[in-house]
Amino acid sequence: MPAPEDFVVTPYEVKGKIDYARLRELFGTQELTPELLARIHRLAGGELHPLLSRGIYYSHRDLPALLDGYANGRPFFLYSGRGPSGPLHTSHLVSFDLCAWLQRRLGVPMYIQITDDEKFWARAGLSREETAHWGLENLYDILALGFDPKRTHVFFDSRSIAAMYPLAIRVARKISYSNVKAVFGFPPSTNIGLVFYTALQSVPAFWPSWAEGRSVPCLIPCGIDQDPHFRLSRDIAEGLGYPKPALVHSQMVPGLLGEGAMSTTGSRADDALFLNDPPAVVERKLRSAFTGGRATVEEQRRLGATPEVCSIWALWRTRFAESDAKFAEVTRTCRSGELLCGDCKGQLIERVHRFYEQHAVAREKAKDWAESTIVTEPPRPL
Ligand code: TRP
Repeated sequence: MPAPEDFVVTPYEVKGKIDYARLRELFGTQELTPELLARIHRLAGGELHPLLSRGIYYSHRDLPALLDGYANGRPFFLYSGRGPSGPLHTSHLVSFDLCAWLQRRLGVPMYIQITDDEKFWARAGLSREETAHWGLENLYDILALGFDPKRTHVFFDSRSIAAMYPLAIRVARKISYSNVKAVFGFPPSTNIGLVFYTALQSVPAFWPSWAEGRSVPCLIPCGIDQDPHFRLSRDIAEGLGYPKPALVHSQMVPGLLGEGAMSTTGSRADDALFLNDPPAVVERKLRSAFTGGRATVEEQRRLGATPEVCSIWALWRTRFAESDAKFAEVTRTCRSGELLCGDCKGQLIERVHRFYEQHAVAREKAKDWAESTIVTEPPRPL
């Protein structure tokens, strides 16, 4: 049955102009309401992460029960992941930024999955050497966001398979082929690695419960495109005797070239700020990024610009406005025509440079302890 929507969102394909409210309906997830945000604010000691206060996280599954549990002394763990197909770009940080903040504020463990197997299966052009290489490089970037070395654990799929496999065996038996086919929309040419893979993405959600022999709740911050995997995890959880993982979903961050620009320019690398881009490249990409500005300065002064369609505004929103006050000011002066795109870009470039400098230092430090986070042993053989 073809969907009547003019957008597609699955873990393996995101296209079209996404109607996020509609997507929540289609997926059957709940709205992340102001009341829920206020509860997180309280539990986090009177602070709310910008990704929450600015609406980038907008949807959830079973968050209230997880927060109830936490408030009643039942701690949970965080789980998120990355498919290492190349260098990370700034929008990949959305899930890990929130996780690092939650870990700091709530003192909870973090499990990170690096799926070098998944990306090899999903991308014909990538070699095993490449996905393994990027897996490690991406891990350094992720850990550098401020994770606690003592409470952070990594499943690096190809290297952690012995630790995951006894549980993966059980998980895989609960997932039918027809379900995978329906949930991911795989065509018949799909390799069987990818058909099995979803079992491995469920494993970390249950692993601590399995390891500790008691039910440990899980919260997964992720892009809403990953929800189909966790629908399967949630369907099979009870049958395995584990709690259903709770989720918070973010919107997808738009690229620098604006919607639909990728195919016309053919320059995918210019669509995002990679964490390994040198300063001159960052500046060039931001200077040529798509904005919501007007054709002339005169028009923009008179009519104002449109932040909601602007890729530069999206960067302010997701990471680079250091306070909600700064973010509100950028938004207001953009809309009113006071702030012109050139000046706005100039201010942003300065902040991006500063972040890259700090990040490079933190990343070097993270390299010292990254290996020690990789889980290689199962808690028991069966
Ligand atoms: N499948 C994800 C990707 O392609 C990687 C991933 C593994 C993940 N486990 C996860 C993402 C848990 C979010 C949450 O990037």
